[in-house]
Amino acid sequence: MKITYFGHSCFMVDLTNCTILFDPFITPNELAKSVDIETIKPDYILVSHAHEDHIADLLTIAKQSNAKVVAVWEIYVWLTKQGIENTHPVNTGGFVKFPDFSIQVIHADHSSSFPDGTYGGNPVGFVISTKKKSFYYSGDTALFRDMKLIPKRHKIDFAFLPIGSNFTMDAEDASIAAGWLGIHKVIGMHYDTFGLIKINHDDSVQIFKSKGIDLKLMEIGSIQTL
Ligand code: NI
Ligand code: MN
Repeated sequence: MKITYFGHSCFMVDLTNCTILFDPFITPNELAKSVDIETIKPDYILVSHAHEDHIADLLTIAKQSNAKVVAVWEIYVWLTKQGIENTHPVNTGGFVKFPDFSIQVIHADHSSSFPDGTYGGNPVGFVISTKKKSFYYSGDTALFRDMKLIPKRHKIDFAFLPIGSNFTMDAEDASIAAGWLGIHKVIGMHYDTFGLIKINHDDSVQIFKSKGIDLKLMEIGSIQTL
């Protein structure tokens, strides 16, 4: 899998046959000025929740790519009102099979409202499974004990976890989550974008390293293969 980082919690995962974009928030991100969003044309967009820092560029990229947008019911209804028709509504716990991958929608311990304050449904994360590998994209969340249930249904290879604290888990809690998931590789997200979530990179990497887990803090615009 080829992973491209567009800053904050926005990643594109290339599964060879198709691409999945998570939580598009690029143009308002001062750290992501080098990213040209016109070139981003995924096949699928998965949305974890309706907060501005996860959907700012959703409509633009959905329109230019005609990607299938997968989101909880309330976000799906909102998308329909905005004229986005290639959608797939889900809710917590659900499994969906797409041609090249399948997903399970996982609870997240957070909140979800649109930028205008209207209700955005439950915040969620996703487990993405292909024939070769599976990964967990948690979305914004606190550490929650039901993460322990995820390996009962899925063999996870790596996870995207928030580490910025203040609005989500910090690195210490994310390292506990990684232990529960039984993984040794974590890609950090939701850090440094705003003052409230600035972190010390070396300290965060060290917290994971002391537990035998590799924390990857990707450069914006960089690509890595897992
Ligand atoms: Ni949020
Ligand atoms: Mn957020």
